[in-house]
Amino acid sequence: MKISILTLFPNMFDGIFTESILKRAIENERIEIELINFRDYTLDPHNKVDDAPFGGGAGMVLMCQPIFDAVDAIRTPESKVILLTPAGKVYNQKTAYELRNEKHLIIICGHYEGFDDRIRTIADLELSIGDYVLTGGEVPAMVLVDSITRLLPGVIREESYTEDSFTANTLDYPVYTHPRNFRGMEVPEILLSGDHKKIEEYRREEAIKRTIEVRPDLLK
Ligand SMILES: C[S@@+](CC[C@H](N)C(=O)[O-])C[C@H]1O[C@@H](n2cnc3c(N)ncnc32)[C@H](O)[C@@H]1O
Repeated sequence: MKISILTLFPNMFDGIFTESILKRAIENERIEIELINFRDYTLDPHNKVDDAPFGGGAGMVLMCQPIFDAVDAIRTPESKVILLTPAGKVYNQKTAYELRNEKHLIIICGHYEGFDDRIRTIADLELSIGDYVLTGGEVPAMVLVDSITRLLPGVIREESYTEDSFTANTLDYPVYTHPRNFRGMEVPEILLSGDHKKIEEYRREEAIKRTIEVRPDLLK
C-alpha cells in the first residue's frame, strides 16, 4: 500500500516513521509513505496557500488551487482521497480494516480555520478522529497511518490484532506479566493454570465485563 500525505508541515512526521513498527514496515516495503507539501503546488507569487474567509470570521482558510493541483498530480484510478475534518465520519477500527484493502490512500491535512468547502468535492471520504478539534490534520493522519499499517500483512502477527479491542465488538481482556505478585496485587490464578480452554473462557468473560463497564455501546 502507498499512502500520500498532503500537508503544510511534513517535518511533523519525522518521528513516527523512523521508529518501531512503522519504521520496520517502511523498510520491509509493506508500506510506502509519500509526504507532499502542497505549498509546492501553489501558483501564488508569494507562495500563499490560504486566505481570509469570505463573509468574515476568525482564522485563515486553505485555498482550493494548491490542494486541487496536488491531488490532480498524484491521483490514479486506484487512489482513495481522504479529507481530514472534525465534520467527517468518526474513524474507528472497522474503517481501518476497510482502508487496509486500498492500494493508494491520499490523505489531506487541513490547518488553520480549515479549508475551502469546495475541496470536499475531491474527497472520496471525510474522516474525523474524534469529537475534539486539533490544530491540524497531521496528528489525525498519523493516527490513520499507524492504525492501518499494523493491519497490513507481514507487519505484526495476525493474532496480535485479531484479539485487539473492537475486533469482536468488545474491549481487549486484561493481560499480566512477571512478577506474579506486585505490591500485593496477584495475577489471577487461572492464568497460571495452563488450562487453555479455561483461560480463553476467562478472557472472553473479562473482555465482556470490561466492555459493559466502560463501553456498553459497543455491545449493542
Ligand atoms: C483547527 S482545525 C479546523 C476546525 C474547523 N474550524 C471546525 O471547527 O470544524 C484545522 C484542521 O485540523 C484538522 N482536524 C482538526 N481536528 C480534527 C479531527 N478531530 N479529526 C480530523 N481532522 C481534524 C482538519 O484537517 C482541520 O481542517
